[in-house]
Amino acid sequence: MADEPLVLGIETSCDETGVGIVRGHTLLADALASSVEQHARFGGVVPEVASRAHLEAIVPTMDRALAEAGVTLADVDAIAVTAGPGLAGALLVGVAAAKGYAVAAEKPVYGVNHLAAHVAVDTLEHGPLPEPAVALLVSGGHSSLLLVDDLARGVTPLGATIDDAAGEAFDKVARLLGLPFPGGPYIDREARAGDPAAIGFPRGLTAAKDLVAHRYDFSFSGLKTAVARWVEARQRAGEAVPVADVAASFQEAVCDVLVGKALDACRANGVETLVIGGGVAANSRLRAMAEERAAKRGVRVRMPRPKLCTDNGAMVAALGSHLVASGVAPSRLDLPADSAMPLTTVSV
Ligand code: KG4
Ligand code: ZN
Repeated sequence: MADEPLVLGIETSCDETGVGIVRGHTLLADALASSVEQHARFGGVVPEVASRAHLEAIVPTMDRALAEAGVTLADVDAIAVTAGPGLAGALLVGVAAAKGYAVAAEKPVYGVNHLAAHVAVDTLEHGPLPEPAVALLVSGGHSSLLLVDDLARGVTPLGATIDDAAGEAFDKVARLLGLPFPGGPYIDREARAGDPAAIGFPRGLTAAKDLVAHRYDFSFSGLKTAVARWVEARQRAGEAVPVADVAASFQEAVCDVLVGKALDACRANGVETLVIGGGVAANSRLRAMAEERAAKRGVRVRMPRPKLCTDNGAMVAALGSHLVASGVAPSRLDLPADSAMPLTTVSV
């Protein structure tokens, strides 16, 4: 519909420079430039390198998105940008660019939360999100369960990781198995040839005593250590490490906990919709297990297609579009980049 808002979204919180354009819930463009290859040899994202890459990529990525959507900046109704959380220097590039474009084209600007955007992106595929919904957010930097009463104005955190994020656990375990960075997609691939029941790795914070204080919290550092010990014992014994079995068993442990706690949160809150977002939501086993177990509980699972799960500009545009449609006021032009923006702040 032509009367739906045309919103451009800019994402620069980590290593992907993304510019997306949506009209209402319709995706028109999703341009992406990644600096991931520049970080791979360091085994993690190097903030300075990421900032510089964003600076080089932002204008070409912007031009590519506008061309892909067949619109000009003058046609756009609002510009949304990730204001946090993320790497401070990386965020600054996107926020400064958004302000520059907004001033030049006299458009309102919305500084938005990256994590809320990981939830909002699903509306591009499945339409408006029924509220309340439970959201499971699993990325390289965050693992959270939230209750989404009103995505435009605020979400209620139910729990979060007390140590490593789920994606971080994938990346660390991949590293000790000799797989490249970022490890999630490599573990996913290796696991397909492995037996998920080969090794019984621990399920963090699922014992009855832990559930009292940490019903919806996650812990993956014990699992990572258990994998490391198991691999070391094999190596000490001079035996080959069955990479596919370790990957499958590790992945099974992570997914089991994520899906179990998410469905528990749905039941306890009387919620029938579970939305899963963030880079780890691209995991094939997580997707299959969530579908299977949710169906048995009468819960509908919504997951964006894998390409929209990892960081991109479309997710920021999707949240911006939702804010405009909900009548939320734009941000002030002096909006800050906030590397530690709390999950409860949807826009600044
Ligand atoms: O959301 P995202 O792109 O960036 C952050 O906001 O952190 O998530 C990146 C994380 C990385 O840790 C990566 O290994 C993980 O998502 N990831 C996956 C898969 N694809 C990406 N983890 C498991 N399976 C995958 N297929
Ligand atoms: Zn992300």
